[in-house]
Order: sequence, then C-alpha cells, then structure tokens
Amino acid sequence: MFKLCGLQFLLVIHWAIGQNFGDLHVTGPLKDMDFFIPEGGGVRFVYQFTSEPPAVSFRAYGEKDGIIDIVPKTGILYLNGSLDWETKTVHTLQVESLDENGNVVKGPYTVTIHVEDTNDNPPEFDKAEYTGVVRQNSRPGKPFMQVHATDRDDPTTPHAQLRYSILHHFPNPYGEMLFEIDSVTGEISPSRTGSYYLDPQKQDTFTLVVTVKDMAGMSTNAFTSSTDVIITVKESLWKAPPTIYIQENSTQVHPVKISQVQSNEPNVIYDIFEKEKLPRLPFSIDQNGVIYVTEPLDREEKDTYVFYVVTKDNEGELVDKPLQVSVIVEDINDNPPVCQQALTVIEVQENEGEGSNIGTVFATDMDKEHTLNSRLQFQIKSQVPPTPSSNLFFIQQDTGVLQLMSHSLNKRIVSNYSLKVLVTDEVFQTICDVQIHVIDINDQIPIFEKSNYHNVTVAESIPIGTVILEIQATDGDEPATGSSYIIYQVKEGDPNNSFTIETDPETNRGFVRINKALDFEETPVYNLVINATNPEPLVSGVQYNSSSLTLFKVFVTNVDEPPVFRETVYKAEVSEDIPVDTVVMTVEAYDPEGDTVRYSLEGDVRKWLKIDSVTGQVYTASTLDREQQETYTVEVVASEQKNAAQKSRTTLTLQLKDVNDNPPLLATDNPAFFCHPVSGGERTIIQATDADKQWYYSTFTFSLADDRNAIDNWEISKVNATHAYLSPKHANFEEKVYIVPVVINDNGQPPLERKVNLEVNICSCSSENSCFIEVQREHSWPSTGQAIGILIGVLLIIGFIIGGAFFHMKYKQKNEKKSHQNDVKDTSELNRLT
Ligand SMILES: *[C@@H]1O[C@H](CO)[C@@H](O)[C@H](O)[C@H]1NC(C)=O
Ligand SMILES: *[C@@H]1O[C@H](CO)[C@@H](O)[C@H](O)[C@H]1NC(C)=O
Ligand SMILES: *[C@@H]1O[C@H](CO)[C@@H](O)[C@H](O)[C@H]1NC(C)=O
Ligand SMILES: *[C@@H]1O[C@H](CO)[C@@H](O)[C@H](O)[C@H]1NC(C)=O
Ligand SMILES: *[C@@H]1O[C@H](CO)[C@@H](O)[C@H](O)[C@H]1NC(C)=O
Ligand SMILES: *[C@@H]1O[C@H](CO)[C@@H](O)[C@H](O)[C@H]1NC(C)=O
Ligand SMILES: *[C@@H]1O[C@H](CO)[C@@H](O)[C@H](O)[C@H]1NC(C)=O
Ligand SMILES: *[C@@H]1O[C@H](CO)[C@@H](O)[C@H](O)[C@H]1NC(C)=O
Repeated sequence: MFKLCGLQFLLVIHWAIGQNFGDLHVTGPLKDMDFFIPEGGGVRFVYQFTSEPPAVSFRAYGEKDGIIDIVPKTGILYLNGSLDWETKTVHTLQVESLDENGNVVKGPYTVTIHVEDTNDNPPEFDKAEYTGVVRQNSRPGKPFMQVHATDRDDPTTPHAQLRYSILHHFPNPYGEMLFEIDSVTGEISPSRTGSYYLDPQKQDTFTLVVTVKDMAGMSTNAFTSSTDVIITVKESLWKAPPTIYIQENSTQVHPVKISQVQSNEPNVIYDIFEKEKLPRLPFSIDQNGVIYVTEPLDREEKDTYVFYVVTKDNEGELVDKPLQVSVIVEDINDNPPVCQQALTVIEVQENEGEGSNIGTVFATDMDKEHTLNSRLQFQIKSQVPPTPSSNLFFIQQDTGVLQLMSHSLNKRIVSNYSLKVLVTDEVFQTICDVQIHVIDINDQIPIFEKSNYHNVTVAESIPIGTVILEIQATDGDEPATGSSYIIYQVKEGDPNNSFTIETDPETNRGFVRINKALDFEETPVYNLVINATNPEPLVSGVQYNSSSLTLFKVFVTNVDEPPVFRETVYKAEVSEDIPVDTVVMTVEAYDPEGDTVRYSLEGDVRKWLKIDSVTGQVYTASTLDREQQETYTVEVVASEQKNAAQKSRTTLTLQLKDVNDNPPLLATDNPAFFCHPVSGGERTIIQATDADKQWYYSTFTFSLADDRNAIDNWEISKVNATHAYLSPKHANFEEKVYIVPVVINDNGQPPLERKVNLEVNICSCSSENSCFIEVQREHSWPSTGQAIGILIGVLLIIGFIIGGAFFHMKYKQKNEKKSHQNDVKDTSELNRLT
C-alpha cells in the first residue's frame, strides 16, 4: 500500500495503521474533514486522500505548525511530532490536489484537526505555602481560609477537575482531624472536634498537608500535588465580659455603654435575650457588640441581672455559643428612712423610775442593708408639753430605744406627751411621731367572776374557730390602758394548743375558741386552768393570786368516724410471673371507734387481685402481664363491720417487673429476596424484636436451625445486637421461595428462643434490583413460580391496576406501628443489591 519506503516516519505510520487504524476508514476523496486527535503520542498517520485524475499530487498549507503535513505524492496526512492541547487546541489547514503542471484540480478543502486533551498536567497550587488564622471556638464548618490550585488541562474534562483533601496535620494531639477542607472549593474550616479543642494556650500552630488531585480525585492515575498550610490559632474574641457593676438611679443620659463583646466571625447580628422572665430587660446591644443599659436601674427593685448575648447569621442561625452577662446594681443612698408606724403609741405607768425602758421607735431604710446607706440614727427633736422639763425622755441613738430620764411623771399634770423623733441616714432624714400616754399604775389584778365554769361538752367534729365558752374577769385599774386590759391564757391542760382565748378590748370578755381539731379517741376530756393577766407589769408588792385563775372541763364526745388506713398509699413491686394466690402486700386500717374493719377492692378491671376481707392481705387472682399493663392501680375500701356505710378508700399500686416471658420475633413479616441468578456475595439484613422490657437494648443471637438444607444453603452472620445478615452460601438457587428456619435467642433471664421460618424469595430482578414478575396479558396465573403462592395472588391484583408487563415488588407495611423499622429494612435491602 505504501511505496514510499526509506523514510523512517512512514514506517512508523505503516505500523500505526497496522496497529491502531486498521479497522478504521482511513482513506477517501478530498473534501472538508474534521479529525479529533489526542495530544502527545508523536509521529502518526492521520488520513490518506485518494487522488482522482487528473490530480497527481496534494498540497497542504495553513496551521501546519511544523507538525502537520501531507505527503504530496500519496496524499497521506500525518503528524511529524506531538500535538499539544495546551499550546493549540485546533489546527485548520487547507488541502488541495494538483495536476502534473501544479495547477489546482480540487480544493482548497478545509481540514480541521481538533486536539483532544489528555491528562498531561499535574495540578499546581497557587502558592508553595499558605498561612491562615483561626479563632478558638470558631464555628465548625465555617471556612477561615482557602487554598487554590490550577491545572492546565482542558477544564471541560475530568483532567482539570480538582479535589482537595487534608492528608494530615502536625501535630495531631487528639488523634482526630481538627480541620476539614471543602474538597471542591478548597475552603478550610475547623472540624467539630477542632471547634471544641483548638486552644492557643495548648497549641497555637498547626501545619496541614493539603493535597489536590485531578481527575476529580476518582482515578488512581490522577496527578496529585500538595502544599503546606500553616495555621495560627488565636484566642477567641468571643468572651463573656467580667461582671458589670452599674450604680443605681444614674442621672446620666441613657442609653449608657456598659460593655462590649466581639464575635470571632465578621458580619454577625448581635442580640440579647433574658435569662429570667422580666417585664422588660433594660439592656440593649448594637451591631458592633456594644452593650448598653437603657434606663436608670433601681437596686431596691432588682439588684442583679443575668442575660445572654448571642450572635446570629443572616438566616438567624446562632454563630457563637451564647455568652452569659451578669450585671450587679450597686447601691446608692437614695432611700430615706421610713417610720414603721405613722404614730408610735407607748404607755408608761406614772410611777416608772428613771432609766426605765419604755418602748422602741422602729424605722427602716430600703437601701442596701449592712451598709452606711441604711444605717439609721435616732434623735428626739421635740417634746410637747415640755413639762415638768423639756428632756423627760432619752432615745438610744442607734437602736431607737426610749428611756425615762427621771422619776417625775404625774398623770394629773400631763397624761399625754408628743415626741418628734428625727431618724437620719447619711443623706435623708425623717420625723417619726411618738405619743407617750402616762397611765395609772397597775395595782389591781384581774378577778374572775367565777372560779369554775364547770363542764363544756363538744362533739369531736366541732369546727375550728367555734366559740365554746365565754369567760369574764374584771380589773379595777384605769380603763383602756395596759393596766386594765386582760389577757387570758390556758395555763394548764392544753399542751397542744387546742384552744385559744380572745379578749374583747371594750368589755374584757374572753371567748374560748377551738384552735385545732379535737379527737375523742386521743383526748376525751380537757381539764383547763385559765389565767388572766395585764400587759403592763404590776407595781411592786402586788401579785396575781388564785382570783386571777378559773377552771373548766371540756368533754369531747365521740362521733362515728370511718376507718383510717395506716398508710396514705400502698405500693408494691412484683414480678409479672408470680403465681396466682401470691400475697403481694397487706393493707391495714383501724376504726377510731374500735369497730372491726372489713376490706374490699374496687376498680380491679383486669381481675388480677383479690383481698382477704378480714386480714387485708392482697393476693393475685390471675396471672399478671407487664406487657398488658406495667402499673396497675386499684382502690382498697375499708368499712366498719357494724356500719358498712362508714368507709374510706386508698389507692394500691402494683408495679410489675418485667420477666423474660416473650420469645423474640422478626421485626417484619416481609419475605427477604435475592435476585436470580445468585452470584455470590449478596446478603440481606434481618432484625429481631422482643415485647419484653428492654434494659438499654436487647441482645439477640441468630442462628440457623439444625437442618441439613438450611446449613448447606445459607449462612448467618451477626451485625450487632439486633441485626444479622443472611447470605446464600452458593450460586445454585432456583427462582422460587425458600423457607429458611432461623433460631433467635434473647438475652433475658432465662433466655427464650423462637424458631421462625423466614421466606426468602429468589426472583428475577428489574434494573433497579427489585423483584419483578412477568404477568401475562390474559391475566392468568403465570406458568412459572408456583411456589410464590399467595404472594403472587396479591401481586396480580396490583398487576391489573398498572396493566403493565412487570412491576416492582415493593414491601408494604402490614403493621402501621412498625412502619419505621420496615422502611429502614426496605431501603437497606435495595441498597445492598445495587
Ligand atoms: C520531521 O521533523 C524533523 C525535525 O523536526 C525534520 O528534520 C524532518 O525533516 C521532518 N520530516 C518530515 C517528513 O517532515
Ligand atoms: C433616685 O434618687 C432620688 C434622690 O437621689 C430619689 O428621690 C429617687 O426616688 C430615686 N429613685 C429611685 C428609683 O430610687
Ligand atoms: C393625747 O394627745 C393627743 C393630741 O395632743 C390627742 O389626740 C389624744 O387623744 C390624747 N390621748 C389621750 C389618751 O389623752
Ligand atoms: C361535770 O362533769 C362531772 C363528770 O361527769 C360531774 O361529776 C359533775 O357533776 C358535772 N358538773 C356539773 C356542774 O354538771
Ligand atoms: C399565765 O399562763 C401563761 C400560759 O401558760 C403563762 O405563760 C404565764 O406565765 C401565766 N401567768 C401567770 C401570772 O401565771
Ligand atoms: C398532744 O399531741 C400529741 C402528739 O400529737 C399526742 O400524743 C397527745 O396525746 C396530745 N395531747 C393532748 C392533751 O391532746
Ligand atoms: C387576791 O388579791 C386581791 C387583792 O389584790 C384580794 O382582794 C383577793 O382576796 C385575793 N384572793 C385570794 C384568793 O387571796
Ligand atoms: C444495628 O445495625 C443496623 C443496620 O446496620 C442499624 O440500623 C441499627 O441501628 C444497629 N443497631 C444498633 C443497636 O447498633
């Protein structure tokens, strides 16, 4: 075919034709042509143009670029060297044929040579080394720097598709990657671990070895380059400010800057929210992180505030973890002293001696206690009338205690003094008014009208507050003073304060009231001794005697009360498998009147319990079942034998403890399937469940039943506590349903086991690797797959509906409750088959 031997390159071309182009259409008449030639590869034959008389030779011109040419005599288009896509991607030549005289016969025709890229350039990073800075606690996945590489190959091909990865980093103190890289963009961010652990105090520089691969990282022939990335870890800017102190009642123009925070990230939105529920939070933050107090605070209203500062991005997602800010409101002395009473009235007997302590003026200050701001001092400013002297009274400066200066009070001259007491803190002062009444001396004792009121009879059910007796004593001292006012108290016979006595200030009459519920069974009779005294002390020489005492008895009568349970509730915990007639607990009630108590149960809807009406022992009446009800509550009734209408009730709660009384089951009834023909390496997942209570999670063991067929054909391997794989052992399976006997054991005490016959369908599969079954147009039973039985019956109906030749077998939930488990199983089965 080629006569032009002797030229070395043509030998090469010959070889090239023989080897590479032998089957291709490599000759043809002159016309416009396009060739697609991979770059590189050296000298090669491209095409041979055939000449038609009168043409005898060819000529090419244009972008030959010293590589492309044509052999004039033979019309062979060839490359004398390698094309390079990176230099030039298209070469356009004109080719024409010539006659003996060199005149153009045909042409010029355009021959276009498209150079195809080969992966002949490794990717290159823009820099030999990169540096970056990351803040402690930066958000995981949030890039803080980027690397970039380029590849000179054709960007429309995988040759220039680059993928970045971090090969390793030095040091690696936690054995986990602290950084991650976006494989496409080259953006580097802290990993979740890094976000947590990075700490400049511990390690402030890391060297990352970042690699880039072309061929989208998918090919083992890809070129790889790497670069070093030096990362400096800096302290987090996002730090809670120290506790902020703000003086209350500030007169500054608000809002006032009190602190500032700064996010590690730029362009975040700062916000604050309260930790405690407040009518309003008197703080704000601006978009530079400056925190303000928006109004004057009042320590006396609230002395500390705690709130959070957060940063959000444009989508409202938190950027940094919330910071807690504490504010303490500092006291200033902005509250005046306040008199505890608008008018303090004090009585003093006219014979009181000098130095006598006659009473106290009380005042308060809302400013911070135990500080000078709330320290109060007392001073008498005036005394009216100033008779017989202007300084009859003395007040202790720091306590407000009033004392008599001299023994010179005389009721007939002045019975009534008014004092103005000045109370001061360091800044404020307040006047408290005090009235001092000079009263007669207390030289008379209260005398009871009767020394014995005899018998009072009350029912034990008498309501609290009822007056059961009125008593009367009289006192000859000055009326309406502390010398004549009478206080009645039970001196003896009432250790538990079951009674109280009130005095009518006008008449000094005493009203004996019930203070606490009486109980005949506990105390049927009270022998009470009542004394009558004055609030003012008696003058010396006078004493209370037996005329200031009286007596009476309180007889409490019995009321028939219902029985009382010894305990308010009865609880027991029992195993669900205890035999019938086991005592689970004993209840006990007594009748306050001593009658015999009978017991019964109410609300025993499951008929699980019975009670011995005499002893109160509660028994099981039938077998219990925790799986039906874990906490069983019934009412116990205790009634009096003589008067059954007198009854009380309480609840009895039985907590059932699980025992392993349910053998495990497969989580789904759906058959497993494998695509026919079985090729080996397939497996399907099976899952077990158990109705018994699972502590943490149950552990099952899966095995094949001791059955020759099963053991020869199938294999079970454990996945984890609840799942196992079933795989065919060989490839010789027919298209039919196999029954695989699987034994599942639970880990209960004692363990239970169940043998299940797992249906495994070996079926033809659709391209999506789900079973499909041919359905005949006449809708008759298919001739194959008789073993599929009922399954096909169901499938046929669906076949009618879709009217097609095949359908995908989809597992439908049989049990809505287990839908989740089923879903998981379906997808995992499909995945495994793909
Ligand atoms: C091929 O190229 C080489 C050098 O580039 C040159 O010496 C030789 O003559 C060329 N051969 C042809 C047939 O063009
Ligand atoms: C603030 O202080 C002034 C006097 O200094 C006082 O009159 C006012 O009641 C104070 N306000 C509060 C809220 O305590
Ligand atoms: C004491 O004097 C005041 C006014 O000075 C008067 O209102 C009050 O009733 C007097 N009290 C007695 C017990 O006299
Ligand atoms: C009070 O009761 C006692 C005891 O029951 C009885 O002895 C006494 O006579 C009664 N006194 C009067 C005044 O009823
Ligand atoms: C009066 O009875 C009360 C209460 O038991 C007792 O505290 C008080 O000392 C008695 N007073 C006299 C003067 O017996
Ligand atoms: C006082 O209360 C105690 C304890 O509740 C009780 O034991 C005692 O009987 C009561 N005494 C009287 C007199 O009620
Ligand atoms: C009690 O004292 C008063 C005088 O203070 C006297 O009249 C009375 O007789 C005395 N009673 C007895 C029982 O001593
Ligand atoms: C067991 O493996 C299955 C399948 O891989 C999985 O869905 C399940 O969560 C695993 N269970 C446990 C307890 O790890």
